[in-house]
Amino acid sequence: MTVLDAALAGTFSIGGDLTINRLGFGAMRITGPGIWGPPDDVEGAKAVLRRLPELNVNFVDTAESYGPFVSEELIAQALAPYGKGTIVGTKGGLTRTGPGEWHHVGRPEFLRQGAVLSRQRLKVDVIDLWQLHRIDKQTPRQAQFEAVAQLKMDGIIRHAGLSNVSVDDIKEAQKYFDVTTVQNLYNFANRDSEDVLEYCAANGIGFIPWFPLAGGELVEGHADARAITEKHKASPSQIALAWLLKRSPVILPIPGTSKVKHLEDNVAAAGIELSDADFATLDQIGKKG
Ligand SMILES: NC(=O)c1ccc[n+]([C@@H]2O[C@H](COP(=O)([O-])OP(=O)(O)OC[C@H]3O[C@@H](n4cnc5c(N)ncnc54)[C@H](OP(=O)(O)O)[C@@H]3O)[C@@H](O)[C@H]2O)c1
Repeated sequence: MTVLDAALAGTFSIGGDLTINRLGFGAMRITGPGIWGPPDDVEGAKAVLRRLPELNVNFVDTAESYGPFVSEELIAQALAPYGKGTIVGTKGGLTRTGPGEWHHVGRPEFLRQGAVLSRQRLKVDVIDLWQLHRIDKQTPRQAQFEAVAQLKMDGIIRHAGLSNVSVDDIKEAQKYFDVTTVQNLYNFANRDSEDVLEYCAANGIGFIPWFPLAGGELVEGHADARAITEKHKASPSQIALAWLLKRSPVILPIPGTSKVKHLEDNVAAAGIELSDADFATLDQIGKKG
């Protein structure tokens, strides 16, 4: 029988003091089409969220821009007051004008408004982890980093991170605040952020790969990779997640879904132990993409 327990993925300490199970949950998909408005099945979305603590998933990723606001509101409705050491990380720095429309706004007053209102929506006294969703090229990045540092100093957020950044961005931000997590596009088939992952691993920064399931298609399409899925009686996306978990102890995958069954499938990946040989085979397949 498959054991469903996110703790099997091992733990990571965000900022050295918030320990989470490494397999988390991305809450972008519990919104409407185009990540806009409420989901078609609100009760189904809340059921997904309520299942998280039962599966020991205690790291939830969201953003004020998911909905906008809908994802944070549903998380609070389903999970607040948060128990079992649940950590909700959120993000700010994007504004929305319609389904599928996203705009970067890094003006310090907008970042501050975003964090203060996220804190209110999430129903917490302090946001455990707040990440700058994108660096806005129309605002000096130093001004955005100063704003994040100020959020920490004022006790609005506990830890801070970045998203969609280069190693140079991280180094610059570290002059202003401790960068505890970085969230970039990365999966079995897309290694564009390999240098950022290496930097995070060397500096104890949590690396949150978004779109973590995308590598599943590549696993499915390759005979050697498919043989590994069969050996583990696993799906291609479970093998793509297991590969991420073995790739580095700082990797914190946050697969997202609106369905309890899919959540359970994803958490089952925490219990898959790839051998070093299978990991190396998959690594080569993924690198060739
Ligand atoms: N920082 C950023 O810029 C950024 C950008 C994008 C995403 N993110 C974060 O990363 C998280 C994950 O990224 P993502 O949602 O783009 O990609 P993902 O988690 O790799 O894939 C999600 C998609 O896969 C489907 N799915 C999930 N589990 C499945 C399963 N077991 N079987 C079949 N289909 C399954 C979902 O649909 P169903 O609902 O039908 O299951 C959804 O369409 C997001 O939730 C968000 O928190 C961050």
